[in-house]
Amino acid sequence: MDQQQLLELDRRHVWHPCTQQKDHETLPPILIERGEGVYLVAADGKRYLDGVSSWWVNLFGHNHPRLNAALQRQAERVAHHIFAGFTHQPAIELAARLAEKAPAGLNRTFFADNGSSAVEAALKMSFQYWQQSGRPAKKRFVSITEAYHGETVGALSVSGCDLYRQVYQPMLMQGFQVQGPDCFRCPYGLHRDSCHAECFEHLQRTVETHHHEIAAVIIEPLVQCAAGMRIYPPLYLQKLRDLCDRYETHYIADEIAVGFGRTGMLFANEHAEVAPDLLCLSKGITGGYMPLSVVLSTDNIYQAFYDDYCSLKAFLHSHSYSGNPLGCALAVETLQIFEDEMILEQLPQKMLILEENVDRFEGLEHVGEMRRCGMVAAIELVERKDGKVPYPWQQRKGREVYQLALERGALLRPLGNVIYFMPPLTIDEHEIHQLLDIAYDSIRLATGA
Ligand SMILES: Cc1ncc(COP(=O)(O)O)c(C=O)c1O
Repeated sequence: MDQQQLLELDRRHVWHPCTQQKDHETLPPILIERGEGVYLVAADGKRYLDGVSSWWVNLFGHNHPRLNAALQRQAERVAHHIFAGFTHQPAIELAARLAEKAPAGLNRTFFADNGSSAVEAALKMSFQYWQQSGRPAKKRFVSITEAYHGETVGALSVSGCDLYRQVYQPMLMQGFQVQGPDCFRCPYGLHRDSCHAECFEHLQRTVETHHHEIAAVIIEPLVQCAAGMRIYPPLYLQKLRDLCDRYETHYIADEIAVGFGRTGMLFANEHAEVAPDLLCLSKGITGGYMPLSVVLSTDNIYQAFYDDYCSLKAFLHSHSYSGNPLGCALAVETLQIFEDEMILEQLPQKMLILEENVDRFEGLEHVGEMRRCGMVAAIELVERKDGKVPYPWQQRKGREVYQLALERGALLRPLGNVIYFMPPLTIDEHEIHQLLDIAYDSIRLATGA
């Protein structure tokens, strides 16, 4: 089948995620044939620098020899088997290594198969913990505005992005959604580098008032990615840990997007030197090769489920592909690559290049801010800098930049008016410059600056 035939079949039969399919009338999907490091190579030979790590999953580039080999080695043993009553070396090794590397106290790994399902499992674990720990009134969850924790019904219930949530509102569970940090348009007139996380007062008030009915607070540490890479200071997490301790409430950290080096450290919580009670991980866990997710829990939570069968305290939650051996083998190899290739040690030099470009981007007439956290950088476009007036969403300014960047050979899928970089961590300095230059030219053209 040639390219045109394939795209015609795509048009007739495929329903793409997070897409208004009608957009494909003017911008058909790009048919990818293979990956080469940070590039995706299309069937027509055009190369696209993957500036967003293919939805934040890819860590070391596409078609990575070590990950390919790990996948093949495991496939030749066993691709999948039931994970209840049976176990396998990659899962055991992964759980042991995560216990070693994750923030202190997270000794136990529960396996699921995508980010949303990890969030669902963590919410249920917290809920059930209180049910069987003599505190049955603790049933509700607290999340912050613009949070994103996935799109299954439970995960969506603790998410705050209206774009993904509004239509389903009647299906969702009722929790507490409180005002979170909004550092670009800070209502206190402060700056994230020097403030004292004053905005934490909203969360604090809610927990202080309602703790007797709150099971957990769930949050994306340091960067609210889907909200447009909103970045807030680590102090917010320290205050949260302290508050959760004082009011016997779980802190669920969703590091599905920011875990595995994106913030410059293996886990974002390390910046705040705190440990959550439950930690959700996915995306980069397999280097971006396979769907796999985990929830790490403390021994204390685990013990609340450990009893004779007839006590009915077990966590009776499962997915067919729980603990998939291919995914686990890739995850073990991913952690080994972090060590062998000193991935984290090489990031500061790359982060410096992003830093050095802040003035250049912020000098553009329609760039309100270029914010950064580790290897994540985001450029927020504004119609007017004065008053930080956003472009009306209907103008789809970000999409215009996206199209121009594609023409220039970079994949920079935007989040509304926010153009961002979250490249594979192995991107080299030349490629970072290339990505920045394409973004700069595309923004200038789209905004007429
Ligand atoms: C912070 C966060 N949590 C949860 C999810 C959901 O993960 P998945 O898309 O694998 O269900 C995402 C996905 O982008 C995410 O960014």
